[in-house]
Amino acid sequence: MELRVEQGNIAESDVDLIVVNLFAGVTAPGGATGAIDRALNGAISRLIAQGDFSGEAETTALLYARANGGAAGDEAADEGGLRAPRALIVGLGSSENFGIGEIRRAAAVAAQAAAKLKGVKSIATIVHGAGIAGHDAAAAAQEVALGTLLASYRAKQYGREAAVEAGLKSCTVVEYSAAKLEDVARGVTRGEAIGRAVCSARDLVNEPANLLTPVEMAARARAMAAEVGLACTVLDEAAMAEEGMGILLAVSQGSANPAQFVILEHAPVGSSEAPLILVGKGITFDTGGISLKRTGGMWAMKDDMGGAAAVIGAMEAIGRLGVPRRVIGIAPCVENMPDGEAFRPGDIVTGMTGKTAEIISTDAEGRLILADALAYAARFEPSAVVDLATLTGAIGTALGMHIRAGLFSNDGSLEERLMAAGDRSGERLWPFPMDAAYEKPIKSDMAEVKNSAGRAGVSSSAKFIEHFTEGYPWAHLDIANMVLADSRINAETPKGATGYGVRLLVALAEADAAAS
Ligand code: BES
Ligand code: MN
Ligand code: ZN
Repeated sequence: MELRVEQGNIAESDVDLIVVNLFAGVTAPGGATGAIDRALNGAISRLIAQGDFSGEAETTALLYARANGGAAGDEAADEGGLRAPRALIVGLGSSENFGIGEIRRAAAVAAQAAAKLKGVKSIATIVHGAGIAGHDAAAAAQEVALGTLLASYRAKQYGREAAVEAGLKSCTVVEYSAAKLEDVARGVTRGEAIGRAVCSARDLVNEPANLLTPVEMAARARAMAAEVGLACTVLDEAAMAEEGMGILLAVSQGSANPAQFVILEHAPVGSSEAPLILVGKGITFDTGGISLKRTGGMWAMKDDMGGAAAVIGAMEAIGRLGVPRRVIGIAPCVENMPDGEAFRPGDIVTGMTGKTAEIISTDAEGRLILADALAYAARFEPSAVVDLATLTGAIGTALGMHIRAGLFSNDGSLEERLMAAGDRSGERLWPFPMDAAYEKPIKSDMAEVKNSAGRAGVSSSAKFIEHFTEGYPWAHLDIANMVLADSRINAETPKGATGYGVRLLVALAEADAAAS
């Protein structure tokens, strides 16, 4: 899908469908919607008066212009017609509490409705919310671009039949006011950078584990880094052994696919400031290892690299946006398999910091690879480190699916910044306790800590990870309830991979940049 920006009157846009909007309860539309209403001889007003459209959120109405109103150069527009054959009115809901999330939603609902129309490949839209709602034109345009891209995502298909050209080919954002055009263009560029990065993360999560091995993940990260202009280093297993990453390597022991440790760096020219570090769990497939998972639903464990996908996607967006802040992304990529060389329950392993861990369950592997990744992060003397991991099934029991991810932190300021970034981006979090008492269930008889406590609450999982986070403020996000959807969640979030975390991390990095 191609995004464009144009100045002018949307009634004159030469596309398959134009998109305008309506707040709930409005009976006499104004602005661009009013102009389209007049061009259609009051069809929108009549639709409202008949009670068939009320402007409620997540509803649309489709109207057809006169049959000959198509070709450029004819008199259609002059006569007060439309150049496009169709117009879609998208409901904005109540004008009270109309925030940027509602703008994104409206754009997504419109793009989804447009994509369902067989004859529609090109659309033009106004910037929802930049008119009477009074939102900043750049911020509103960003959400329009983002919502359009998120709704238009299509997962890769592996069938032999030539894929039917599905979905929209282009979206033109039309701004009437010349004075606002530059802001709108800037917003669309930003929304596009973020939207494409979310879709990259979705692609990684959707890809099956036989194709997306740790080596393939590292190759994709390297290719992205070259395109965006990030530095990229990949450690192989020999290099990881050299670093002393014995806890991470224990998880990889049973797999024929070697582990890869990906480090991405975005640094503004000349910057040597303490970096913000993002760490993502990259288990390309989690069988549970010797503590084997049950068969039902195991296929979904291809999503166990959702944390790494969020970090790689966020680094893509941060690079493209040129965020004025040094940010490092770390993605330990490992496959958790059972074979004759696999690590076992009862094994005691030693990581980079020298700390020993007793393995109770080989299925509690995420915290093990994070242990060495977080120990590695310390060498950069970071200002803060945030890890994202599909860590526990229990987080979904606690918070439900696809509403909020779990937040665990030992630093009040970082926790606050993350909560704010969640609210701003619409990728929300909820804080969990980190009392010292949660430490007790992971005390080991033989080693310094053990990797599983049974049913001792989600906080003891975070407490295990905390053991390996010395020297910096740290937060852990358990995103196991957010990365893969059984069915479509809303217009902007399809069935399958959600790309959760990219928008949140970009919002955090940008807020950090603005504050420093
Ligand atoms: N990758 C899983 C967690 C998971 C579960 C992610 C469901 C997505 C959906 C993780 O490695 C795991 O197996 N966790 C165990 C932890 C237990 C052994 C302490 C779990 O949640 O059961
Ligand atoms: Mn597991
Ligand atoms: Zn796992």
